[in-house]
Amino acid sequence: MSKTIIISNRLPLQISIENDHLEVTPSVGGLATGLKSFHKDGDSIWIGWPGLTEEEIPSGLKDEVQKKAKEENCVALHLTSDEIDGFYYGFSNRTIWPLFHYFMEYTESDDDYWRYYKQVNQKYADEILNHYEEGDVIWVHDYQLLLVPNMIREKAPDAIIGFFNHIPFPSYEVFRTLPWRDEVLKGVLGADLIGFHTYDYERHFLSSVSRILRHQVDFNEITLPDRIVKVDSFPMGIDYKKFEQAALDHFESTSADQSELQKRLDHHLKDTPDAKLILSIDRLDYTKGIAHRIRAYEYFLDKNPEYIEKVRLVMLAVPSRSNVPQYRRLKREVDELVGRINGKFSTVSWTPIWYFYRSMPFENLIDLYTTCDIALLTPIRDGMNLVAKEYIATRTDKTGVLILSEMAGAAHEMNEALIINPNNFEQIAAAMKTAFEMPREEQIERNTMLQKRLRRYSVEKWAEDFMKSLRGTKENRDAFKSI
Ligand code: ADP
Ligand code: F6P
Repeated sequence: MSKTIIISNRLPLQISIENDHLEVTPSVGGLATGLKSFHKDGDSIWIGWPGLTEEEIPSGLKDEVQKKAKEENCVALHLTSDEIDGFYYGFSNRTIWPLFHYFMEYTESDDDYWRYYKQVNQKYADEILNHYEEGDVIWVHDYQLLLVPNMIREKAPDAIIGFFNHIPFPSYEVFRTLPWRDEVLKGVLGADLIGFHTYDYERHFLSSVSRILRHQVDFNEITLPDRIVKVDSFPMGIDYKKFEQAALDHFESTSADQSELQKRLDHHLKDTPDAKLILSIDRLDYTKGIAHRIRAYEYFLDKNPEYIEKVRLVMLAVPSRSNVPQYRRLKREVDELVGRINGKFSTVSWTPIWYFYRSMPFENLIDLYTTCDIALLTPIRDGMNLVAKEYIATRTDKTGVLILSEMAGAAHEMNEALIINPNNFEQIAAAMKTAFEMPREEQIERNTMLQKRLRRYSVEKWAEDFMKSLRGTKENRDAFKSI
């Protein structure tokens, strides 16, 4: 029976070693959290990196890692520390990531990183081919594996291959600056179907293909000498029912079951019943606009001193890619900003920012989503932003206000949120004020619309639509051959 082979750099499970034992935790990040439910329900295997370098896994535990992966229908692909440095911290996160998010000043062009990127992409392609049987559908994910589709195509010309990019695709003027632009485009074009979160990313990609490789592009189809490649937008959704149900369970739980975090949040609510909690959750990444958010919050408190002691920003930042210098610098900047603002505005009984720098279990995320009155998400660039969707899905009484950056892919589908430009502090401060004063009926009205859309365009539907379109390309291919 045919199966789907999912490939992403990171597996949905993260393996670590605690006291000589393997610990398995869920991976953080939109790709892993989103795709997990599709994988769980379907007949698929998932190939990816388990989060430790080959050198970090004691030889006696290697089989154990594979066993843990297998329990979840996953295959662990081992990468050496040199490969992780050159491929993951190097080309993926010092070249492609900043370039595709328009941080050109952070973008490095290094031949060694490129060499490792090709080497590791080949390793992924070879591992896929080890598992591939005729009739299988191959689904490659994200910017770390841009060369994989064509590497598979070279060995398995008839394979059905889909590729989905979870981050923005930049405009041609930005993409063209990449020294390896031709190779990267040719790599992705090994796929039959290429998916993006938004129509804009799709358009940018098509424009680069036509201007750099000079292929014929008609509407959303690219004609290659032997095949047609389809490009389309598929905005990724969330597992809506999971978040809704988790929120309902949260409200039904007894106080004995409450987490320490929830107790602390409740304490705050009891002490200051008319105060509001503003939430932000992201990986600590310079694309997420965390420093902008804190500065905008400072601007808000400066301009609206009547809100002192009446508001608190609960900011959860998950450690991410800390071997890359810009991430370490951002960590220092955020620490300093939080310290400075807490020092500037705190009173004996109140601090304006609660800052958590760690990953949290799912239950705590639900505590935060369900308890905070406002979510403030200010990315400077973001492929989608699933946190925005998760926040709305957990608001089972339909109250709560989402303030969302127009630079997030999610903003295209979430018009009823308060949409802001993350560079405009005055606008963010005004949106915060609007959020505080928004009547309950208006919140319910906005969230009713948002929830209806999010429930309909769930992650299941996203995967279904992509797969349906991918299978359709097979018919196109047969028709192309018969011409
Ligand atoms: P990105 O993919 O860039 O990290 P998204 O907002 O699209 O950004 O996805 C982040 C995902 O990671 C969400 O599904 C969110 O629930 C999850 N997540 C974020 N913070 C944490 C955390 N502290 N602990 C566990 N999961 C988290
Ligand atoms: O959404 C972009 C992305 O890179 C995903 O590929 C991944 O799920 C997430 O961010 C986390 O990144 P990393 O795997 O580098 O921790």
